[in-house]
Amino acid sequence: MDNIIDILHDCPIIPVVVANDMDKTLKLAEILSEENVPIMEVTLRRANALKIIKEVHSQFPSITLGAGTIKHPEQIASSLHAGASFTVSPGITKPLLEEAKSQAANFLPGAASASDILLGEEYNIKCYKLFPATAINGLDLIKAFRSPFPDVTFCPTGGIIPDNYLTYLQQTNVVSVGCTWCCNIEQIENEDWQTITTRVQQLKAGLSTL
Ligand code: 3PG
Repeated sequence: MDNIIDILHDCPIIPVVVANDMDKTLKLAEILSEENVPIMEVTLRRANALKIIKEVHSQFPSITLGAGTIKHPEQIASSLHAGASFTVSPGITKPLLEEAKSQAANFLPGAASASDILLGEEYNIKCYKLFPATAINGLDLIKAFRSPFPDVTFCPTGGIIPDNYLTYLQQTNVVSVGCTWCCNIEQIENEDWQTITTRVQQLKAGLSTL
């Protein structure tokens, strides 16, 4: 299994999905597949999330699936069992780091401070979800972290929109960004596939300017 940095390098935009409806999420996966977006994070915020991960993994094996909003250690094993290739948390705790280590899981913990990174470094974590990016002035934070943490990279998430994603991706210590903008819950619930497709295409088109 690739490590987390290799996974994120392969696609610099991670669509973050809050979904509970199996068929609608499968339709979203179909669109991402057609648009050559090889990655998707399904957050564990709805009852059906693990079942959805399992089914998307089975029907779209070429999509690298992440399980997001991991808050409890036991969610790591259940996500891997369902077919997730990587796990994402909004924060960082010792129990999560211990469990990720014991499961040999690709784990992207959340970081919002130097202390978070220092905790992760005890477990040799070199890549973090910078969260919630725009709320904590993520751009300046990323620039400031470059000197004390020269070998650390980030996946800023939270408030990522067309106006700012390329600026984040231009930073040498940013490997990818995560966002719901291209597949938010209203669009999925309303089956607004046209808007989702257009937004995915818009984000992808911008990458060619990097
Ligand atoms: C997440 O779910 O990881 C983030 O909250 C996504 O943030 P966004 O909705 O601002 O893109």
